[in-house]
Amino acid sequence: MKQSNNVITVSAPGKLMLFGEHAVLFGRPCIVTAVGQRMKATVQLLAEPVFQLNAPDVQITNYQKSMSELGKSDIPKGAKFVEFALYNFLERKLVSFAYNGVRITTKSQFSSQFGFGSSSASTVCVIKALSELTKIKLSQRQIFDLSYKTVLDVQGKGSGFDVAAAVYGGTIYFVTGGKVIKPLDIKNLPLIVGYSGIKADTVNIVNQVAEKAKKYSKQIENIYTSIQTIVENARKSLLKKDWSTLGELMNLNEGLLATLGVEGNKLADMIYAARDTGAYGAKLSGAGMGDCMIALAPPSKVRAVKEAITKAGGQVIDVKTNVEGVRVES
Ligand code: PMV
Repeated sequence: MKQSNNVITVSAPGKLMLFGEHAVLFGRPCIVTAVGQRMKATVQLLAEPVFQLNAPDVQITNYQKSMSELGKSDIPKGAKFVEFALYNFLERKLVSFAYNGVRITTKSQFSSQFGFGSSSASTVCVIKALSELTKIKLSQRQIFDLSYKTVLDVQGKGSGFDVAAAVYGGTIYFVTGGKVIKPLDIKNLPLIVGYSGIKADTVNIVNQVAEKAKKYSKQIENIYTSIQTIVENARKSLLKKDWSTLGELMNLNEGLLATLGVEGNKLADMIYAARDTGAYGAKLSGAGMGDCMIALAPPSKVRAVKEAITKAGGQVIDVKTNVEGVRVES
């Protein structure tokens, strides 16, 4: 499709945390992979000084306000990330903006309920699209930094691992706030993914862990340090495609997450069902209590593991992993 110079469509992948959730909020590393279900954003520059947004996946239709009101007054939940992305981009004043307004439409290939990081992916899409349209050509690092700032502006917390997956794609070794962003050279990752049907409230769960850490600070620090060791080992096993060790490391990581209190009964049922039917290992992915679990299994057991997850009340989702980061579509 021919690209006109005031409209562009970009897409960014969703993410799945493989190892190191929670600990990554406290200076430790994690490993995240980008998933093939993508978020798309079409961004158009307008002559009138208005911001317009349609994001049907998060119940935003015909949202409109004056550009001078950007970032102000009550912003509906579903519009926050996109609006702040636009606001932060313009705040940088890197560009003399030849147009006055912006129209954005987002469309996701995945449900915002899965916990695949739709908010971060849409933030990254908007910043990438604006950088292309205004010919500033931000580097991946600059797109990461501006998108991460946007995520912190909106939700106050977050390691930025989801932003890194959306920008860089692939499978990444990542340290809090992007102190380290290291792509891992792996070709495929035969993950089985099960959705619990429960929406995880990440900020709430992070706060619950913080409460626990007030009373048991030493013990929880030790858990984070153990998770760090698991992440370092997992990085090596991933590069060697040593799936059985990787599965064992998943189980170890899950045990520590359970100790933090974030396992949740439904995820636990799915995880143990996967292990009982021959998975090398299984764990939750993300904040816990809901969203998704992941499992690794030998090819001969994949079917049985999927059936067991379904029987435990989960929904198996077909995902491609290790996919390309943010890109221009048309
Ligand atoms: O719930 P998710 O998929 O956004 O994952 C949260 C992972 C945490 O480590 C708990 C938070 C973070 O931002 O790293």
